[in-house]
Amino acid sequence: MQQTIKFPSGKVEYFFQSSFEELWEKYDRRNVVIITDDRVMGLYAEVFFGLKIVVLPTGEHSKDIDTIDRAAKELLRLEANRKAMLIGVGGGVVTDITGFLATVYMRGVAFGFVPTTLLAMADAAIGGKNGVNLGLNKNILGTFAHPEFVLYDSRFAATLPDSEWSNGFAEIIKYACIFDAAMFEELSKNNIGFYRNNASALWTLVERCVDWKNKTVLADEKETGVRKLLNFGHTAGHAIENLYELAHGEAVGIGMLIACTISEEVSGLNKNVTSELEKLLIQYHLPVHLNIDVEKTMELLRMDKKRSDDTIDYILLEQTGKAVIRPLPLTIIEKALHTYESYNRTR
Ligand SMILES: NC(=O)c1ccc[n+]([C@@H]2O[C@H](COP(=O)([O-])OP(=O)(O)OC[C@H]3O[C@@H](n4cnc5c(N)ncnc54)[C@H](O)[C@@H]3O)[C@@H](O)[C@H]2O)c1
Ligand SMILES: [Zn+2]
Repeated sequence: MQQTIKFPSGKVEYFFQSSFEELWEKYDRRNVVIITDDRVMGLYAEVFFGLKIVVLPTGEHSKDIDTIDRAAKELLRLEANRKAMLIGVGGGVVTDITGFLATVYMRGVAFGFVPTTLLAMADAAIGGKNGVNLGLNKNILGTFAHPEFVLYDSRFAATLPDSEWSNGFAEIIKYACIFDAAMFEELSKNNIGFYRNNASALWTLVERCVDWKNKTVLADEKETGVRKLLNFGHTAGHAIENLYELAHGEAVGIGMLIACTISEEVSGLNKNVTSELEKLLIQYHLPVHLNIDVEKTMELLRMDKKRSDDTIDYILLEQTGKAVIRPLPLTIIEKALHTYESYNRTR
């Protein structure tokens, strides 16, 4: 199934329920350079046979400017010119790096994504934000640019370890919390095992997230308004992600709980919603306890991109499926971190 989304800054073709090999009906293999990581390469070497390829070390540590530097040198060695098409085949780390690299290499070359983790399929490959980290600060260097295509090939899901299913579900739960109470309800009735064994339910869910993200990005491509809602769970989440070397989804899960704690005080969220979210995260094998160092977390939050003077635009819930943006004083956030911390110690 094919779908074209036209953003003001470019159009993206979505190839759902597709196969990697279909790309060669559209793109000239000789111009293609695959960007992937060593884990995906180890699992799918035969898929890449005969293609030019740049292999990155797996993991979040790779998402930095040193990797961009090394990968760009590799592109030169492979004689990639301005006609090159970079195709990122991997998780969110690979898609972020590919998008960033493609927008700066020779002032911009074409690129596309084949997301291979649930998290990248449901979220990271969509929306045209391409970021790399600067030290512990997430996505500080980045560009806005859409890939030409995003291709979904279900074969890649077959090798995902349990932890990557949980990780992906964190972002799916995020979409349910901010936009879609019915999805929250559906997720509550099911579990990872159900979606692993029920391809049609899984891909319907993924496409629903893609839809929510595209609708939001269409309304606000450069994140000056409604797109900020997608950062639900990501403010405290980003700070603790690199501080405690958590997987992105694990950090977002805890970030969503912290945001709900604040929402109870600031936007009138019913406490039951926080408990339901906690239950759902546990159901999808995501952590809900973490002993956080409030001082260190606040230090990172002070450098957050969404901060202006002494407030940060924080995404809160009013109810399941209804999120709002509120500028919050840093003191309120600090208080919520202490509340989460002490709540943790009592459990
Ligand atoms: N640009 C955006 O809009 C956006 C949105 C959400 C997240 N992100 C970014 O995405 C990143 C997280 O993405 P991720 O969780 O996919 O991380 P990841 O890319 O590190 O992938 C997680 C692990 O899964 C492995 N893997 C990938 N595909 C596999 C497969 N098919 N089978 C087995 N193993 C496989 C990878 O090698 C890696 O070890 C973060 O850096 C986050 O900031 C970006
Ligand atoms: Zn995320």
